[in-house]
Amino acid sequence: MTGSPADEPARSPEVIATVRAMRGRVQAAQRAGRRVGVVPTMGALHDGHLSLVAASRAACDVTAATVFVNPTQFGPKEDFSRYPRTMEADLAKLAAAGVDYVFAPEVAEIYPDGATTMVELGGVAEPLEGQFRPGHFRGVATVVLKLFQAVPADAAYFGQKDYQQSLVVRHMVADLLLPIEIVVCPIVRESDGLAMSSRNIYLSADERQRALSICRALEAAQVLVAGGERNAERIAAQMQTTLRDSGVESIDYAAVVDADTLAPIQRIESCAVALVAARVGATRLIDNAILDIRSAR
Ligand code: PAF
Repeated sequence: MTGSPADEPARSPEVIATVRAMRGRVQAAQRAGRRVGVVPTMGALHDGHLSLVAASRAACDVTAATVFVNPTQFGPKEDFSRYPRTMEADLAKLAAAGVDYVFAPEVAEIYPDGATTMVELGGVAEPLEGQFRPGHFRGVATVVLKLFQAVPADAAYFGQKDYQQSLVVRHMVADLLLPIEIVVCPIVRESDGLAMSSRNIYLSADERQRALSICRALEAAQVLVAGGERNAERIAAQMQTTLRDSGVESIDYAAVVDADTLAPIQRIESCAVALVAARVGATRLIDNAILDIRSAR
């Protein structure tokens, strides 16, 4: 495994902008018998991303991160143009984290002139985010597939924070027979519980306080389940109440659904997931918690 001892200064990763060069580096490493991990990101990196890098470095010999703000996953009224772009700071963090390669292409490298092919999705992409952000997962799946072509790694690391996204990617990989292992890593939270997100920087101090009700709502769901509650509707209602009591009115969903299929359920029989998407001020935040009664018994 690569990586310098803690007392050595971080070695800067090689920053690569073309698919051809990036693919060449990965294939050369694999020919030399080295396992390659990739961490796809849109930059604006925080400790959540760095935990994915750490997971890759623990299991792989070479780690690449991608930094690409993907236009096709943003809706026309969403924050593509103002999405934080912090390349210099990102590179410093990736260097300190021991990343070997950073793939940072221009839009035209990923979407060449005249490109019209997109990944068509169904199933787990349809409910929840699929309803509130039409076309979002089509853009995510398309870019992830393209990133896997540019960085044909052995394993890719995603965060559980984007729970539905990780299911969509898992399904795409299975359905399209892609030779890559998908690893989903736990949510990383601030000390007060707020899930780390590149969008947290949009929050004012007051909004930041109100945003805490999202993780509190999820904690409330976990407490109910630990106390024996199994009725999904009652748990979801409690989540809504927790959010509203803290002044979060604009709730896209606060739902308890099957953890594998995201289908609605009446009772938790084995493993469910509680998911929230809500707007705090102008910022849309998502978070989730697994409700596994096998561990709550
Ligand atoms: O989770 C993200 O940051 C993005 O959706 C991803 C997977 C990098 C695709 O653009």
